[in-house]
Amino acid sequence: MQTFVQSPTDPAFVQNPYATYARMRAMGPLVRWTDYDMACATDHATVSAVLRDRRMGRQVPGELAPAADPARAGFDAVEAHSMLERDGADHARLRGAVLRSFTSRSIAGLAPGIRALCHDLIDRFPAGDVDLLAVYARPVPVITIARLLGVPEAAAADLLRWSNAMVTMYQARLTADIMAGAEAATADFTAFLRDHLATKRRKPRDDLMSTLIAAEMSEAELISTCILLLNAGHEATVHTLGNGVATMLATGLQRSDAAAVEEVMRFDPPLHMFTRWVHQDCTVAGAEFRRGDRIACLLGSANRDAAVWDRPEVFDPDRAGPAHVAFGGGVHFCVGAPLARMELQIALEVLWERCPALALAERPVYADVYHFHGLERLMVRDASRGGVF
Ligand code: HEM
Repeated sequence: MQTFVQSPTDPAFVQNPYATYARMRAMGPLVRWTDYDMACATDHATVSAVLRDRRMGRQVPGELAPAADPARAGFDAVEAHSMLERDGADHARLRGAVLRSFTSRSIAGLAPGIRALCHDLIDRFPAGDVDLLAVYARPVPVITIARLLGVPEAAAADLLRWSNAMVTMYQARLTADIMAGAEAATADFTAFLRDHLATKRRKPRDDLMSTLIAAEMSEAELISTCILLLNAGHEATVHTLGNGVATMLATGLQRSDAAAVEEVMRFDPPLHMFTRWVHQDCTVAGAEFRRGDRIACLLGSANRDAAVWDRPEVFDPDRAGPAHVAFGGGVHFCVGAPLARMELQIALEVLWERCPALALAERPVYADVYHFHGLERLMVRDASRGGVF
C-alpha cells in the first residue's frame, strides 16, 4: 500500500479535495494517509465493500477502548449509547426502534410543513445580498428535525449551538478548549432532553420522541438516540443544500427533481470520511489487516471514481451509473436518507420557484472543517426582488 501525505487543513485541499482524491485513487484502491495514520479506501468498489464488510464495525474493539478521560466523560457517555457507535445486536435494536418510528408515511406527512416553512423563510429574506446558509439552508433541516422529534422550534438556536460544539470532537486535533466546549454542550443538551422526555412520558404526543419512549431503550440510549437524530439530522443536510445550490448556480442547472438531488449528493457530499475498526483479521483489496486496525472510507473520493462514472468531475443530473455512497452503505446506511432526500427536493423546488433569478454574489468558500465539507457562507442575490442587486 502506498503512502500519501496531505494535510486536511491545507487551504487548497479544503477548497477542492477532489483533485487530491484523484491522485490517491491513481495510487490504488487503498492508500495509507499519513496525516491520519490510517489506510483509506479510495474507490467506489472498495469503499462499498468495506462499508458492507461484517468483519469490521464502528465499535472500538474492547481491548483497545481508551482509558476513561474525565475531561470528556459526558460526551463519551453519549457516544457509547449511540447506534452509530455500536455494532451487532445493540445496533440492530436501536436502529430498529428508530426505523419503526421513521416510516415512509410519517416522513411523507412532514412534506406540507417543510414546504410551508421554505415559503415562510423566503418571505422573510432580507433585501440585498443574503447568506443563503443562514436564512434558508440551516433553518430548514433544524426546524424539520425539531418538529419530527417533537422539541420546540424555539429551541433551534440552542440545538444548533450544542450540535456544533459536539461535532467539533470529530476533528483530528482536539484541544482542551474544544473538549470543554463539547462537554458543556453535552450537559446542556442532555438536561434539555431529560426535561422533554419527562414531559412526554406524562403526556405522549404524536412525535418521534414519544414513540421512542415506548421502545425497548434505556434512558441513556433514549438521550443518545435523540442527540444523534438532532445532530445527524440537520448538519449534513444543511451543507448538502448549500453545496448543491452553489453548484447549481455555478452550472446554471437549477433543478429539484430526484435525479438532481442524487447528483448533488454524488458530486459534492458534505461528509467525506467515515472509519471502520477491523474486528477480525482479514484481507481487503489485497492488503492484510489485523483486529484493531482502522480503515477509512473516503466517500467523497468514491463518488468521483472514473471507473464507474463517465466524467465524474462534471455535475450532470442526467448521468447514468450506480448509487453514490454519500449516505454510506451496509448496516449503518443513513437512517435519515429518505427524510434528507425529501427536504432537499422541496427546499430546492421552492427556492427555484420563488427566486428564479438567484445568482451567486461571491465565489463560495468552503469552511476549514474536514468533518464537514460545507461552505462558510453562501452569498446570493436575487435580481427579481429588486433592491440593490
Ligand atoms: C444529506 C444529508 C445526510 C447525509 C449526507 C448523511 C450521511 C450519513 C452517512 C454517510 C451515514 C453512515 C455513517 C457510517 O457508515 O459510518 C449516516 C448515518 C446516519 N444518519 Fe445520516 N446523513 C444525512 C442526513 C440524515 C438525517 C436527516 C438524519 C436523521 C433524521 C440522519 C441520521 C442518521 C443516523 C441516525 C445514522 C446512523 C445509522 C446507523 O448507525 O445505523 N442522517 N448518515
